[in-house]
Amino acid sequence: MTIEVVHDRTGLDEALDAQGPGPRAVVMTMGALHAGHLALVRRARELAEHVVVTVFVNPLQFGPTEDLARYPRDLAADRALLDPLLGDGDVLFAPSVHEMYPSGDPAVTVSAGRIGEVLEGGQRPGHLDGVLTVVLKLLHRTRPQVALFGQKDAQQLAAVRTMVRDLDLPVRIEAVSTVRDDDGLALSSRNAYLSPEQRTRALALVRALRAGEEAARHGAGAHGVRDAAYEVLAAAVDRLDYVEVVDEAFVPLRPDVDGAATLVLAGVVGTTRLIDNVPLVVARRPVEARPADTIGG
Ligand code: PAF
Repeated sequence: MTIEVVHDRTGLDEALDAQGPGPRAVVMTMGALHAGHLALVRRARELAEHVVVTVFVNPLQFGPTEDLARYPRDLAADRALLDPLLGDGDVLFAPSVHEMYPSGDPAVTVSAGRIGEVLEGGQRPGHLDGVLTVVLKLLHRTRPQVALFGQKDAQQLAAVRTMVRDLDLPVRIEAVSTVRDDDGLALSSRNAYLSPEQRTRALALVRALRAGEEAARHGAGAHGVRDAAYEVLAAAVDRLDYVEVVDEAFVPLRPDVDGAATLVLAGVVGTTRLIDNVPLVVARRPVEARPADTIGG
């Protein structure tokens, strides 16, 4: 049993029409698949009768100085990883840039609004607009009942949820927990850029999240959690982009506010920009229970 690979609208429409009844799930990727993507595909397989995986390195979400040209591309390798997980009727959609943007840069795009301008959006202007534009196009093309996104890209996930809510899109968004290596480093296609020395230093992201979790457990409050993580990260990375404790709309928590939050951080090691996050509960008194996604340590 092998997955059907299609590259254009006609091939995709034919493959989708042949799928028959039952819900369809989509997993959108930029390829360079790793165990984090495969966890999304496995969850999609559990949730729906039919699965579509998209592989498309979306130029719209890369800034002019970012790694669009060197972003790893190997469709044969991606396909080999997907084959054991997918079966008859499942589809791998791998369009070209011309197929997705036949007139060049689109005249009409999606604006992520405020969430597209802070933290990731502040560091990468237009990035989340580019993400939402291609996500909307891929939702239209693949017509799924459920779309799965990784918690690893927490701000992207929040932006997608906001778009689905605000534009009344008929799709359910399902989040899948971050997959980590044994040492805790979150899996990312960009980890491949790290030298052994840089990979060791990149573990500061994990230590920073653990420091934040520890502070939260001791009742540090939002700013105490943020500062504990900041101190660890600042000592190890070549550039610290941000450390923040945010609510579900990605608004920084005020120091006098308790509740469910996400500690998000980003930094550069060598020339590789890495992001990570962990959900936690901020309460200005010690907390016993840990949320499910805890980094621990
Ligand atoms: O998370 C990614 O890999 C990309 O941002 C996505 C959602 C596939 C859109 O290009």
